[in-house]
Amino acid sequence: MIGVFDSGVGGLTAVSAFDRLMPECDIVYFGDTARVPYGTKSKAVIEKYAFQDCRFLLSEGVKAILAACGTVSSNCLSELKNALDVPVAGVVEPAAKKAYYTAAGANRTVAVLGTSATVRSGAYEREIRKYGDGTEIISIACPLFVSLVENGRVADDDEIANIAVREYLEPIIPLSPSAVILGCTHYPLLSRIIAKYLPESELINASEEAVKSLDEMIGGDAGICGSGALRRFYVSDDPAGFAESGKAFLGRDISDRVNYVNIEEF
Ligand code: DGL
Repeated sequence: MIGVFDSGVGGLTAVSAFDRLMPECDIVYFGDTARVPYGTKSKAVIEKYAFQDCRFLLSEGVKAILAACGTVSSNCLSELKNALDVPVAGVVEPAAKKAYYTAAGANRTVAVLGTSATVRSGAYEREIRKYGDGTEIISIACPLFVSLVENGRVADDDEIANIAVREYLEPIIPLSPSAVILGCTHYPLLSRIIAKYLPESELINASEEAVKSLDEMIGGDAGICGSGALRRFYVSDDPAGFAESGKAFLGRDISDRVNYVNIEEF
């Protein structure tokens, strides 16, 4: 069984990728809906929350953890990996690799869209540079995107979402980057709007790349993944609201599988 967590609904983009790529795998998901957003918090607070989230998932018996949160993955993944007894993966490395190779075959320009804390960490840039020099990397913090997604403002013609997307992307529209990393797991829900302004760019879904890489590493290991196709969801506030937003991510009703947990106890 794999534990997956995020600050809220964003990590459901990873669950959606599990549904497609590793459907048999058992998943317990935690969304920290009481404390979202993480992306505006300090590194110390993000780390404290991430450890509580992982301790809860471990109490559920998970055998591996995916931090389906760009903010956690870029601010404290190594701390989690070093401290926990199970394998821990994040979303930064697989997306950075994909972006590097996509850009290398084209105009060698990568844009990273993420939360303020993710952009501040420089983690995606560091990871891309490990593959080689010569890539121009432009990182843009898009703090309004999480609220738009959490509030369901993701329709193609949503006026407010379009204004926010256009404004954040303005500096990179003339550059038409070969690869654009959706470096926060909430952002794939805005991908159709983002694609309108960057029609030539390949949008890289960090959650999807992370699940592909997990599939390569442990996909065949039933001892870690389980094989019952279980999906269980926990949140730290408003299970009904989470289930409602979850429909947009997963295309199905999960309202009978969402439970409350008091995360402060972990
Ligand atoms: N979905 C998260 C991320 O990938 C966090 C967004 C937030 O809580 O600010 O960064």
